[in-house]
Amino acid sequence: MPSKTDLPLPQLDNVPRHIAIIMDGNGRWAKKRGLTRLAGHRSGTENLRRIIRACVEFGVQYLTIYAFSTENWGRPADEVEGLMHILEEVIDKELNDLHEEGVQLRHIGRLEQLNPTLRSKVEHSVEITKENHRLILCIAWNYGGRDEIVCAIRNMMKDGVKPEDVTDELVSSYLFTAGIPDPDLIIRTSGEMRISNFLIWQASYSEWYVTPTLWPDFDREELYTALSSFSQRERRFGKLSDSENELIQNAD
Ligand code: FPP
Repeated sequence: MPSKTDLPLPQLDNVPRHIAIIMDGNGRWAKKRGLTRLAGHRSGTENLRRIIRACVEFGVQYLTIYAFSTENWGRPADEVEGLMHILEEVIDKELNDLHEEGVQLRHIGRLEQLNPTLRSKVEHSVEITKENHRLILCIAWNYGGRDEIVCAIRNMMKDGVKPEDVTDELVSSYLFTAGIPDPDLIIRTSGEMRISNFLIWQASYSEWYVTPTLWPDFDREELYTALSSFSQRERRFGKLSDSENELIQNAD
């Protein structure tokens, strides 16, 4: 008998091209079970694998995950070290499979503060997967939205950009996410209602799905629910909806 996670789900229309996820709640998940916080992060990492597969299945083209923020350095040293170790282990164990599955890895954030071995592993995984296009998996690691904007301003100044040449598009092209479309849908697990310095420029018109489910428990079915909820929304980008425009035109 197929398990619940294998059951086919009805085709979705209007699948978001880009989803971004704040994978929150690993610590609480672990605490509930009397486990260490790192055990929670390990369980969250296993879940990430399942969600990557589900994104491919549902036709999502870009998935950005908030895995280590510039603020996370303030956590206890063993947790920080453990998270760095998890990233290294994931690259060592999963890179070949991800590559074969057509996943392109991208990194957003600053690599220079990572240890040289981890840094070169991240650079290598980005390099060898750069021609893959089935799913672009963008890992936010040592990432902060404000830091990203500060870096962009510094680089624009270094390049001698004139104030009158600064446009939305130009700023976007200086961000770590250059070339990646803005997220259509941002998912945050564990119920917190904050942006937490994640994609603060890019999230201007993103839709949100916030769920009380803790990240290790956020499964394929709930991802499907989030995508269905997105598909029913009307995005107006600050303008009027088509039906409102029609009413106005008919009234003229
Ligand atoms: C937030 O939960 C989660 C994190 C700070 C880390 C997320 C990282 C992973 C799932 C590791 C895997 C990622 C890769 C790319 C290898 P929390 O610890 O803040 O949870 P809490 O709010 O319940 O304490």
